[in-house]
Parts: sequence; structure tokens; C-alpha cells
Amino acid sequence: MKIIATIFGLAILAIAVFVIFVIETEKAQFKRNAEMVNYEPATTPGSKVLVVYFSRSNNTELMAMEIAKHYNAQLVRLNANKYRIGFRGWLNALRDAQTRHAVITPEKIDLSAYDTIFIGSPIWWYSPAPPVWQFVKNNDFAKKNIILFNTFNSQFKQEHIDEFITNIEAKDGLFIKHIYVKRERMSQQISTKTLLKKVHQQLISLPEIAPPK
Ligand SMILES: Cc1cc2nc3c(=O)[nH]c(=O)nc-3n(C[C@H](O)[C@H](O)[C@H](O)COP(=O)(O)O)c2cc1C
Repeated sequence: MKIIATIFGLAILAIAVFVIFVIETEKAQFKRNAEMVNYEPATTPGSKVLVVYFSRSNNTELMAMEIAKHYNAQLVRLNANKYRIGFRGWLNALRDAQTRHAVITPEKIDLSAYDTIFIGSPIWWYSPAPPVWQFVKNNDFAKKNIILFNTFNSQFKQEHIDEFITNIEAKDGLFIKHIYVKRERMSQQISTKTLLKKVHQQLISLPEIAPPK
């Protein structure tokens, strides 16, 4: 009986240590990445490219920033307070990871000035995070080129990406490509410099984005 209680206690302790490690790592990334965001889009749209993204710990935000710099594009962050950084936001993210709805601001964006929309998020439970599904639900993409971009640690499932593409096409969008950066497991993640380099490599491999006919 004593042995079972000890094993149980150790298991609880191990889970607690793991959760604290994850939460503290996310907080550190959130702060470090936020300090690296150094892009101020022009106040009037100069390019026909828009970058819309959701990010919890700001890694996808760095990817979004690099894409926006490349195209001199406007940048819009989708806010979802339920998934803010910290323990409660993390629990909510875990619970909702594969749902297709979320409360986001802004809910809708006037896309009329743009030909191409990059939509980005982290991968949660093998799937793009709920805020970008909600964004697709709320907006119309008729005749827009769409590129999905993600950051993740180890793996996503193509079936979720295919579902995302189906949703874009149901809104008359023209899906161009899925681009992504794998950041590796939490204990051995790539540096920010490498992340940005990988984003750049993805961008130069994209087909030239021309206005859809
Ligand atoms: C709730 C939750 C679930 C996650 N699930 C996965 C997953 O299934 N596969 C994966 O590779 N990474 C997963 N991750 C890791 C994130 O995708 C990765 O850290 C991402 O780069 C975070 O982006 P952000 O900093 O923009 O929020 C998950 C993270 C969270 C918070």
C-alpha cells in the first residue's frame, strides 16, 4: 500500500514539474519573442498582401513578422483572451485544441484591399489552433490567394490541413500552399535566428503570388 502511494505521489510530482517547466518556458518565449518584434507596417496599405495570425507564445508572431517584412504587408494579430499565456490559458488551449471555434478579436477584417492573405497559427493537438478556424468562418475569401503558415514543435496531421483547405475553398478562396517551421521539442528548440532563416527559405520557395483571375 505504501509503495503504491509513493509511486502515485511521484507520478503527481513528475506531472507538476513537467507542467511548471512548460508554463515557464512559454512565458520566457513570450517575453523574449515580443522584444524581437520590430516591424511597423505602413499606415496605408502599400502591398496587396495581408498577414493574419494567432500566437500564444509569440513564435508564430515572429514568423508572421518575417512574412510581412518580405512582402511589405499589413499585419493583423488575432487576439483570443481565453488562451493567454500562463497556466489557465494553457489548460484552455489543451482542452479546446481541436475545436473549430473561438472568441477572437477582430472577428472580421475588410479584405477588399488584398489579393493574398497569409493565415497563421501554432499547431495544437496536430491541428491549426481554433482562432484561425474561427477567422475563416467569419470572413469571405472570394478570389483571394490563401497561404496557411504554422509553427509547431514536432508534428501536425495532414488531415487537419486538408480540412482547413476545404474550408478555405468553401469560402471561394484559392489555396496556394501550406508553409511551416518545426521548432523541435521543448528541451532542444531551434534558435530565433534559425526560425527566421527557415521562414525565409519557405518564402523563396513559394510560387510568385499573382492576382487571381
Ligand atoms: C495546447 C497545445 C498543444 C500543442 N500541440 C502540439 C502538437 O500537436 N504538435 C506539435 O508539434 N506542437 C504542439 N504544440 C506546440 C506549439 O505548436 C509550438 O510551441 C508553437 O510554435 C507555438 O506557437 P506560438 O508561440 O505562436 O504560440 C502545442 C502547444 C500547445 C500550447
